[in-house]
Amino acid sequence: MLKYSFRKYTPLSLRLWHWPTVLVIFGILGTVLLRKTFLSWHTNSVLIEEKLSASGIVITPELAKDIAISIRNPMWDWHIYLGFALGALFLGRILIALIVEKRCPGFQALKNILKIRNLPLQEKSEALHYTVVKIGYLVFYFLIALMVLTGLMLNFKAEIGLSKGLIGATKEIHELLMWFLIIFIGGHILGVVIAENRKDHGLVSDMIYGGDPDPHNNLPG
Ligand code: HEM
Ligand code: HEM
Repeated sequence: MLKYSFRKYTPLSLRLWHWPTVLVIFGILGTVLLRKTFLSWHTNSVLIEEKLSASGIVITPELAKDIAISIRNPMWDWHIYLGFALGALFLGRILIALIVEKRCPGFQALKNILKIRNLPLQEKSEALHYTVVKIGYLVFYFLIALMVLTGLMLNFKAEIGLSKGLIGATKEIHELLMWFLIIFIGGHILGVVIAENRKDHGLVSDMIYGGDPDPHNNLPG
């Protein structure tokens, strides 16, 4: 059934964009997880102080913190490398929309939102679900843009002369956005698995091999 099916022909460029994006985002989330757990300076500075004092060496808490952060830094460098990779992928997604798809993702769904009211009752909930998912992708792209912007601001805080207050606010926004991203990813994976098991068998395969290129068998995205 074509109506409200999520199956559509996925151009090679979008398929090649999707999977590295998944890896990069999971990589970034991995660096955050390590920073907050095994490589947390709060935990490790106390450990360093305790172990050294057990061997009769007394160091200041500041030095212990400094050592713990130095141990963490090479790992955190990957947050920045992958952050730049995410920025590049975001630009790549814009180019795919402009050159290959020649449309803005989610825009068609945004335009159709008012038409849902006039649909027959049994079609309404399906149409609404389809529209919310497509607009969800647009929101995701907006989130990524903000994530990259705030990340770059933090990375180049000295160069752009960001004040202490603004650094704190930017960091809070950057961290808060992460929770929205995690909600998107959880909902997305769950949604894809449910769709694949209900009426959209082959949806994940479309994101790998492309699917049916015949435009008559596909909905506008
Ligand atoms: C999926 C996207 C991203 C997520 C989930 C994410 C998450 C986070 C989190 C949670 C923090 C706060 C860590 C803490 O203080 O405990 C942080 C800090 C930071 N992020 Fe990201 N980030 C992302 C993308 C980026 C990008 C694109 C860049 C830019 C290259 C970037 C650069 C930074 C910088 C410079 C910091 C501050 C580190 C510090 O104060 O030591 N991030 N990020
Ligand atoms: C970090 C994790 C992930 C992110 C950020 C992500 C992001 C996205 C985005 C933005 C789209 C929309 C592409 C577009 O049409 O503009 C998409 C579509 C899709 N993704 Fe993911 N994805 C993730 C993980 C996964 C995983 C693990 C799977 C497989 C189980 C998957 C399968 C799909 C499929 C089948 C579609 C097409 C669905 C549709 O057109 O509605 N994704 N993904």
